[in-house]
Amino acid sequence: MEIAAADGIMPLAALLREGDALHQPFDQRGLVQGKPHLASRDWLVACLADPEQLVLVARSAGQVRAMLRARLWHREASRLHAALNIATVEELVVTAASRRSGIGRALMDRAEAWARQGGAERMQLSLSAANTAATDFYSDLGFSDLTRTLFKQL
Ligand SMILES: CC(C)(COP(=O)(O)OP(=O)(O)OC[C@H]1O[C@@H](n2cnc3c(N)ncnc32)[C@H](O)[C@@H]1OP(=O)(O)O)[C@@H](O)C(=O)NCCC(=O)NCCS
Repeated sequence: MEIAAADGIMPLAALLREGDALHQPFDQRGLVQGKPHLASRDWLVACLADPEQLVLVARSAGQVRAMLRARLWHREASRLHAALNIATVEELVVTAASRRSGIGRALMDRAEAWARQGGAERMQLSLSAANTAATDFYSDLGFSDLTRTLFKQL
């Protein structure tokens, strides 16, 4: 398996669609609204050009198997929090047929190295509480609960 920075947008859109479709069953309360512009060509091109973002693609046997997008943030100090450099995982999708073969872990290892190099002190992400596969995956990689988001539909 080969992991490299994405060199074009072609394989990304399909993986993003696969990830989006997977999240629909978790969205029992209709909170996820379609935002097609967020996988548009211009948006993807901007992601690839942004030095604060990392877009990785994993390939094996000439086929794209997975993608990861991460970004760096600086949180200013506030009354409660010290200033902090954070890396967030924005998307991670391993195509269904290629799961449980270590690709997700390999992508996260690369993203973590990039985040450290970029000065991030913490890596974080949010995911649906119902996505138990991803919860188990991140837990296996050493992630744990940081905050809890509560909501009430009005
Ligand atoms: C979550 C996801 C990225 C994991 O990728 P993956 O390549 O299958 O994960 P890996 O093979 O690297 O797994 C590493 C470890 O994570 C854990 N893990 C991964 N998938 C798991 C699952 N479905 N159930 C339980 N544990 C799991 C295991 O401990 C695994 O180690 P093992 O296979 O030696 O037991 C993948 O299932 C995926 O793309 N899901 C759809 C999109 C998604 O939910 N993305 C995350 C939300 S941002």
